[in-house]
Amino acid sequence: MDYKRYLITAALPYANGPVHIGHLAGCYLPADIYSRYQRARKKDVKFVCGSDEHGVPITIRAMKEGTTPQDVVDKYHAVIKDSFEGMGISFDIYSRTSNQIHHETSQAFFTKLYNDGVFEVRESEQYYDEAKDMFLADRYIVGTCPVCGNENAYGDQCEKCGSSLSPEQLINPRSALSSAVPVKRKTKHWYFPLNKYEPWLHEWIVAGKKDEWKPNVYGQCKSWIDSGLHPRAMTRDSNWGVSVPLPDAKGKVLYVWFDAPIGYISATKELTAQWSDYWCKEDTRLVHFIGKDNIVFHCIIFPAMLKAHGGFVLPDNVPANEFLNIEGEKVSTSRNWAVWVDEYIKDFPDQQDTLRYVLCANAPETKDNDFTWKDFQDRTNNELVSVFGNFVNRTFVLMHKLCGGRVPPVHNGLLTDADKAMADEIVLARQKIENCLDNYKFRDGLYEVIDLARKGNKYLQDNAPWSLSKTPELQVENQKRIDICLHVCLQLTANLAIYVNPFMPFTSAKMIRMMKVVERMLEWENGGRMDLLKVNYPLRAPELLFRKIEDTEVAAQVEKLKNNLKNASQVKMENNTPSPESTTAPAPAEAPAKKAEISIDDFSKMDLRVGTILKAEKVEKADKLLKLELDMGDETRTVVSGIALHFKPEEIIGKQVTVVANLAPRKMKGIESRGMILMAQNPDGRLIFVSPLDMAAPGSEVR
Ligand code: MF3
Ligand code: ZN
Repeated sequence: MDYKRYLITAALPYANGPVHIGHLAGCYLPADIYSRYQRARKKDVKFVCGSDEHGVPITIRAMKEGTTPQDVVDKYHAVIKDSFEGMGISFDIYSRTSNQIHHETSQAFFTKLYNDGVFEVRESEQYYDEAKDMFLADRYIVGTCPVCGNENAYGDQCEKCGSSLSPEQLINPRSALSSAVPVKRKTKHWYFPLNKYEPWLHEWIVAGKKDEWKPNVYGQCKSWIDSGLHPRAMTRDSNWGVSVPLPDAKGKVLYVWFDAPIGYISATKELTAQWSDYWCKEDTRLVHFIGKDNIVFHCIIFPAMLKAHGGFVLPDNVPANEFLNIEGEKVSTSRNWAVWVDEYIKDFPDQQDTLRYVLCANAPETKDNDFTWKDFQDRTNNELVSVFGNFVNRTFVLMHKLCGGRVPPVHNGLLTDADKAMADEIVLARQKIENCLDNYKFRDGLYEVIDLARKGNKYLQDNAPWSLSKTPELQVENQKRIDICLHVCLQLTANLAIYVNPFMPFTSAKMIRMMKVVERMLEWENGGRMDLLKVNYPLRAPELLFRKIEDTEVAAQVEKLKNNLKNASQVKMENNTPSPESTTAPAPAEAPAKKAEISIDDFSKMDLRVGTILKAEKVEKADKLLKLELDMGDETRTVVSGIALHFKPEEIIGKQVTVVANLAPRKMKGIESRGMILMAQNPDGRLIFVSPLDMAAPGSEVR
């Protein structure tokens, strides 16, 4: 089909935390490269995204931080938006699902299905937390996975084995909010009959899309369809979300996976009055870029919803990437094992393309991949600086030195085979890159760009225009050789700017400045031309395209990761709710790693003592900290402890605790903390005081 429009979406990130480089590599960067590529081909593109501001993870985070869901989404929406902008992700709109237009659009969608009699209403018994006075769906409930035995599976999914679950399947269910054992209560919900769409989905995906979609995407869909589809509740009991537009649905909101994908439609509406051209005309190519944990929602549930509604285009492709690990370990936001985009931007200002390059060159397209800071350095220094940057820089320096700062003439009749071969490579490269990008193979495409620069370096080296003698008898002839060589190198530079532009837009912008050409030169159809720069046209001095990454910078980043981990494990002792992140949420408490053996001498270095809590108060501007005054027998000590989200100050006064009394003092929020109190952590994340069973004299030694 000859598509007239491209509607490109990138998964709406949950506004419950900043984005990390795994998000970029998995979804936003490929989507951006694809969008930029299609725009360069002068296609009509709308690239839409926004924050996903509903759902359980956000309400849980709000409870954890002691604020409101609205505060949480306001804060992270801004952080995420800035991160994308900073990295040059070129959305045509970055919206948010708390917008009025989204509430209206998703309600209208629901109402249409309702009026068409699509939903089945069912009364059922659902788990209810009597302490918190609310129903527990999805991530509000945790328990043991019936498939793999993971004790911290969620009500909608086990993150260990990937099984999709319902709360009823959990063994020993407990509330994620209070750890209470839930009771059952009657409630009513509206179910979307996915089962009725099974034949159609089979036809569309299994018989239809299997050769176009990536094997990982197709594979997941097929196994879902093969194992049978069931009606799925599209409403929830909650007060945070889009309210269900029915009179008998008080206290109910749309299921977040019902409303969020409709967010793509609302965002397009917000962007353009012509939104329906993009959503409803058959000659639109709709492409959803997502991470692998979103596959069923985008390939099965949302398409079935669109089909049930009628009048919408369906996704032509759903390129989903795998996950990016960091330094050999799975990203874990609760352990703070992640490289946050907002922090990268602060630590490496003006190095956006370096990260874009490394993440694309190493993208987890077919399997989980690993990001290491060493690899970041190696690729930057050995590929960007030494190959691409070096070629462009040498070309410019030599042109200034040997050709008077102007594009030299080409002397057509004198072209050697090597000159012609170089020109052919430039044309060929365009075909290769197109072939990759048309098939969502961004990594391979980028490789071709660098490879072309590598060929340019070799061509320059082989011709060595700097070494040609300028003695009177050879001067005229040699100057022609010099001219030709640098003419070819300059045209190659212009072509490289075109080819690199979708991947590294900051770099191509610098290059067009150096070449003093207009942005239009970057249009894709110009790729392969050898007359992009006019003979005799004066060019600027070269700008530094990339800089080397120093060992010290790498060491600092690795150190930072390790420190994050340390701090997180301290804070973790203090958090009892499961971490609600979107993609790789680890279970509330991973089994703590066993530590290496120590000698009795090691142990005897610790001065453990019993203390009695005399006073406890919140620390200003620190949600998690309590300032404790401890009676230690011969003295009163101040200890700052990160348990504020678990205990109210008044509850713990009088309790006895075990104190590491000889821990080096440290300052927290300006308060000197002398010692640390010990806590046991339940697998569900709850904290329990490690206290003597009977009252001990304050200051008693523990050994
Ligand atoms: N917020 C989801 C996540 O981060 C993705 C939502 S994609 C949408 O996993 F289609 F629902 F918008
Ligand atoms: Zn499991």
